[in-house]
Amino acid sequence: MARLRYKTFRGNESYVRAVVDNALDAIITINEKGFIESFNPAAQRIFGYSLEEALGANISLLMPEPYKSQHDDYIKRYLKTGKSRFLGVPREVLAMRKNGSVFTAGISASEMRVGSQRQFIGVMRDITDRKQDEEKLRNAHMEIERLFSAISEILIGVDQEQRISRWNKAAEETFGISEIDVLGKLFTECGVKWDWEKALALSSKCMRKSGKACSAELAYQKLGGENSYLRITINPIITEFGRFNGFLLHGNDITEQKKSEDQLNLASTVYEYALDGIIVTDGDAVIRSVNPAFTQITGYTAKEAIGENPRILKSGRQDEDFYQQMWASLKEKGQWKGEIWNKRKNGEVYPEWLAITAIKDISGKTVKYISVFRDTTEIKRAEEELLKQSERLSQAEKLAAIGELASGVAHELNQPLNHINITCQLLNKIAEKKKIDKSGLLEEVRVISENVERAVEIIKNLRDFSRKESSEIYPVNVGKAIRNSIKMFGSQLKVRNISLIVEIPPGRIMVIGAANRLSQVIINLIANARDAFDTIEDDRQKKILIKVEDSADEAVITVKDSGPGIPDAIKKEIFNPFFTTKPPGKGTGIGLSIVYKIIQEFGGKLEVESQEGSGAAMILTLLKPPGGVQ
Ligand SMILES: Nc1ncnc2c1ncn2[C@@H]1O[C@H](COP(=O)(O)OP(=O)(O)OP(=O)(O)O)[C@@H](O)[C@H]1O
Ligand SMILES: [Mg+2]
Repeated sequence: MARLRYKTFRGNESYVRAVVDNALDAIITINEKGFIESFNPAAQRIFGYSLEEALGANISLLMPEPYKSQHDDYIKRYLKTGKSRFLGVPREVLAMRKNGSVFTAGISASEMRVGSQRQFIGVMRDITDRKQDEEKLRNAHMEIERLFSAISEILIGVDQEQRISRWNKAAEETFGISEIDVLGKLFTECGVKWDWEKALALSSKCMRKSGKACSAELAYQKLGGENSYLRITINPIITEFGRFNGFLLHGNDITEQKKSEDQLNLASTVYEYALDGIIVTDGDAVIRSVNPAFTQITGYTAKEAIGENPRILKSGRQDEDFYQQMWASLKEKGQWKGEIWNKRKNGEVYPEWLAITAIKDISGKTVKYISVFRDTTEIKRAEEELLKQSERLSQAEKLAAIGELASGVAHELNQPLNHINITCQLLNKIAEKKKIDKSGLLEEVRVISENVERAVEIIKNLRDFSRKESSEIYPVNVGKAIRNSIKMFGSQLKVRNISLIVEIPPGRIMVIGAANRLSQVIINLIANARDAFDTIEDDRQKKILIKVEDSADEAVITVKDSGPGIPDAIKKEIFNPFFTTKPPGKGTGIGLSIVYKIIQEFGGKLEVESQEGSGAAMILTLLKPPGGVQ
């Protein structure tokens, strides 16, 4: 081609010279011996030789070893064989400057004939920079490739035809789909199991937004089928002419992050809705946060509590030692648990179960205290009730055992006593008929008879007591039972100067029980009140009040006296069978145990209220029949 051009420009040498002299490439001609015949200014600049130095020199001057030594032979071989791998084919060679430095040159050489002479012309360019740029580009490209495969983010390239152009290692591993299986496939057919609706909506949104990246979270199925979450971002690739040229999608697995978010949400829900109070303080024990249960239990609002020290709740029931131990445990073990009495805003002192945990930072400094506490007032109350119940139960057990015994004793005793009684009556009659004035004898008989009566009464009591619970219960008119019972006392209260006050609301009040047994209860209680006055010496007003209070489900009968009251020490004992404080022959101590037993049979409750020195009250709570039977 060079030859052609040369011919075309023959006769226009000045034009050719201008081109050669101004060319940016080195243009060198040599003869068939290899000596330089022309060496243009660009050649002089590139190689550093002046025209004078170059002209006539062997072209091998411009070559490093081993080419330098081989070149003469090369030309000779060509001239002989006409074969060259060099001529007419642009290629890269190594060239050497005058200063000995070697560089890569691009060369295009051809042969021409000038007259009979054969000449070779070479056009050369220093391509060191280009080579370096190419190298840089190649390196950059490799760098990108390495990045693509090393990056833990999923990267998927999609071209303008919606086909997969990139699919990195993270994508392979996450979805279990290898690059070679998806490259060139349509994006929608890449086989990823994720929320496609969302993914496609995102890609079209991103195109609508003309060049802006869009992100979204979506559910996907991991290799292995586990349901997980990804955060994907789609970056559109826009050419410099503004044309949409596909997009690059990158994604991060955010399942763990989501889980911890969920956990955080859960924790805050627990905090909000827990029944236990929660206090969070800083390392200096200044309250930073409290939950709604805290406010409910203590009465302090969050606003009032925050900034304060938890000691605002101190009740004063624990001493300094207690708090010192608490702090010592927090310091040593990082936690403290126990029961503590605290004070509500309204001044009420209450028991709580408290657990405090110290939260430390990595340096081991306590940065937070978290206290969780539960108001145990209700639990304590229930415990006490349970204790009472178990006391009542053991009382009932005792009664049952004694009941068995009593029924045996009663049976045995009854017959001989009857016999004695009859004998005494007979004795009495005989004594009267024969008019024997044996007043002494009569007196003896009277005493026998009285004792027998008493023995019979004891047995009767024992019998009542041992009676099995077979006796029926039915609706009973309370007012009637009380009025019947009072009759039994006749004038004996008046004689003793005891006034009896009865307060019964108008109308019939029905309770579950049995008429005669309810009377028995009331008689026993009145008798006890009556007897209690025997022990007082002051001249206080002697009063017995019987009061009935009616409510929807229950009726409460109170028998209250103004007597000496019951000392705390014996309060628990008075229901025990045979417990009495009365002198021998006066009381058997069985009255209240019978009362207790009967009330139990009725399904009711018996309580005693008394202050030593100022009277006693027996309170009977009886159930009303279901459906309000009248
Ligand atoms: N209203 C009362 N005031 C003071 N003490 C009472 C009263 N009621 C009962 N007590 C005390 O309880 C004890 C037991 O009473 P309980 O009725 O069981 O037996 P008692 O009255 O001694 O004998 P009994 O009833 O068998 O004749 C009495 O001895 C008395 O000490
Ligand atoms: Mg009694």
